[in-house]
Amino acid sequence: MNRDDIAGSAEKNVIPEAALTGSLRDYRLPAGSDLIGRVDGFYEWQDLRRQHNVWPYARSTASAPKTHCTAKTDAGAEISGVNFASQDYLSLSSHPAIKEAAIAAIRDYGVHSAGSAALLGNTKHSLALEDTISDFVNGRSVVLYPSGWSAGFAAVQGLVRPNDHVVMDVLAHSCLQEGARAATQNIHFHGHLNVEGLARRLQRIRANDAENGILVVTESLFSMHSDTPDIAALRNVCDQYDAKLLVDCAHDFGCIGDDGLGHLGLQNMLDKVDVIIGSFSKTFASNGGFIAVKTRAMAEYLKYFSATQTFSNALSPVQAATVRTAFEIVKSQEGKLRRRRLMENILYMRSEMTKVGLEALGDPSAIVPVRVGAEGLARIAARELASMGAIANLVEYPAVPQGGARFRVQVMSDHTKEDVDQLVHHMLKSMRSADLEFRSYRENDHAAAPAPSASKWTVTSNAA
Ligand SMILES: Cc1ncc(COP(=O)(O)O)c(C=O)c1O
Repeated sequence: MNRDDIAGSAEKNVIPEAALTGSLRDYRLPAGSDLIGRVDGFYEWQDLRRQHNVWPYARSTASAPKTHCTAKTDAGAEISGVNFASQDYLSLSSHPAIKEAAIAAIRDYGVHSAGSAALLGNTKHSLALEDTISDFVNGRSVVLYPSGWSAGFAAVQGLVRPNDHVVMDVLAHSCLQEGARAATQNIHFHGHLNVEGLARRLQRIRANDAENGILVVTESLFSMHSDTPDIAALRNVCDQYDAKLLVDCAHDFGCIGDDGLGHLGLQNMLDKVDVIIGSFSKTFASNGGFIAVKTRAMAEYLKYFSATQTFSNALSPVQAATVRTAFEIVKSQEGKLRRRRLMENILYMRSEMTKVGLEALGDPSAIVPVRVGAEGLARIAARELASMGAIANLVEYPAVPQGGARFRVQVMSDHTKEDVDQLVHHMLKSMRSADLEFRSYRENDHAAAPAPSASKWTVTSNAA
């Protein structure tokens, strides 16, 4: 399709087939010697989607990411309304005590750590934060990282060597997979949450290799599906085959469970996993992440052998002071109340969705994945939802299975029942309207897109 075709179809408001089909996966391995020019195809596809308002990514907030906010699409269009797209599960990012702590740190210290933690980048704020986290996780040794992603990458890359093996849940986060790729070619995947699958792989590895290390990698809450492994079962299998267990707790640490210890706490496994990874960006109001391990020796090793710690600038004093204050709140009675409010919101949302025929996937957590189905349908639904003044993220293949596009709704403790009601109302309306439009494309053959019946909700929404 050339530019004139694109402009013409945008005028008529007909979405061309190419904007409703295809995925990022199509552009992952561009071919040809022109390293720069060969990525143009991606931009053309992306821009086609942008022009037809079906590119719901790279939005920016024009006001603080609170329960209501103003955002802009990356084409500059304004969306204003109820916000379920921010990761601020306990609503701490604009908390007065946290703002005060950040301002005080700036007054006292300036804004920059000015070095890698391996040299002079630690500050009194980052050292205090290490102690605070260590207390929270029963005295483990803690190493800080500039982001959650770099902590996940570092834990695998820092510990695993080329002859070792990494066995991971097939849905493990990109930081864990990239860390494994940087460390070894011996990477094995097992089915999502499948403990028998893990055991079979470990058995096969140990049958041929009794010498080298095995790191088993999972998450305490998988963000695209909102589900959780049986961590005790994973531990048992690891022990059987002399493997170590790493759990990335990015999405539940601090915000789930009465004590805020997430599923590690709920399953009584905090002291029983070898490596814990946490991110600050979901609950603790800042960039940053940590690794918590059981021995000082292992922490010291990571400080000098995990690339994103040794060769990257340390957390800023503002970030460290922010996160430390967030931990104080998380541990306090206020933190408990915020977690309770968050869970009430989650349960209320899931039950209201079920009542109207929307399908909330997985288990209750701050992420409520809502099934849509075919990618084209989902892109139209996302456009409709934004136009109604509700903000929620769309996730599609390859982040989730093909034909399994979904809204990833992110709940905060400050949301009210009215906010939830609004979202559910708009989401249902947007899906119904998208369903009609998507059908019309199929019937008029504008877009050779998959049948709407690929999505389960179309059946229920028509009946509701
Ligand atoms: C499991 C997991 N680990 C790590 C990260 C990266 O954390 P951050 O965004 O804080 O860098 C994420 C982010 O979504 C995640 O889901």
